[in-house]
Amino acid sequence: MKITVFNGSPRAEKGNTHAMVQAFLEGANDARAVAETIFLAKKNIQHCEGCFLCWTSHPGQCVIKDDMEILRGKLITSDVIVYATPVYVDNVTGILKTFMDRLVPLIDPHFYKDENNECLHRKRYGKYPKIVVIANCGYPEQSHFQVLRLLFRRNARNMHSEIIAEIYLAGGELLSQNSTMMKIAVSRYKKLLRKSGKELVENMKLSGETIEKLNKPLMSDQQYIKSANKYWDRMLSKAAITRGTH
Ligand SMILES: Cc1cc2nc3c(=O)[nH]c(=O)nc-3n(C[C@H](O)[C@H](O)[C@H](O)COP(=O)(O)O)c2cc1C
Repeated sequence: MKITVFNGSPRAEKGNTHAMVQAFLEGANDARAVAETIFLAKKNIQHCEGCFLCWTSHPGQCVIKDDMEILRGKLITSDVIVYATPVYVDNVTGILKTFMDRLVPLIDPHFYKDENNECLHRKRYGKYPKIVVIANCGYPEQSHFQVLRLLFRRNARNMHSEIIAEIYLAGGELLSQNSTMMKIAVSRYKKLLRKSGKELVENMKLSGETIEKLNKPLMSDQQYIKSANKYWDRMLSKAAITRGTH
């Protein structure tokens, strides 16, 4: 099975999103999947110009000559793609959204009505990859993934695909904390991510039990608020000292 991860974090390999992806891919590798991670922040990806020439003059080809031609090729030849992103302003990052806009050449312009009487563009390809979503956010509640849940469900429909797993970690900044208590919780969570990666490759879905465990917070909201506020106070003091010395 070929898996391609499209990571939309500007922090790329240093980000919390990548820490989640790494653990997940370890499990996918255990089940003999072949995975590649692409850090979109390091690619040359221009905005869609909205010209629709990819639907008319040269069907399936974009006029913008940047890294997207190769990336679209990688996507369409994958069995599974992973959209990996932090939550930015309740949504995916701009980097990932720009990438998603540029996938329009992969579908055909003609309209039809689906089984729910809703319009859809036709397929350009016989097969589209299944979708996994891996995301984290700074707030401690699962409710901050509402927009992503809806966005990816709609995106999967438009791309003639389906979501086979969604992994959302609230309070994701805890992944880069190094207190002893957090190290234990993070290590347990990463083990669970590894198990999820293996399970997904083997069954093309996650079990109800795994999903339930993945949705459990790493610490209580109240503890999280306390430790987050302490962290920001520390950072503000540090910044004030640095400002004073310049
Ligand atoms: C510009 C910006 C907007 C953000 N917006 C949200 C948000 O709406 N909700 C939230 O819970 N976290 C928000 N965050 C926090 C990030 O989701 C969080 O820091 C995450 O761990 C970053 O992941 P990364 O290290 O993979 O980039 C935002 C961060 C930035 C820099």
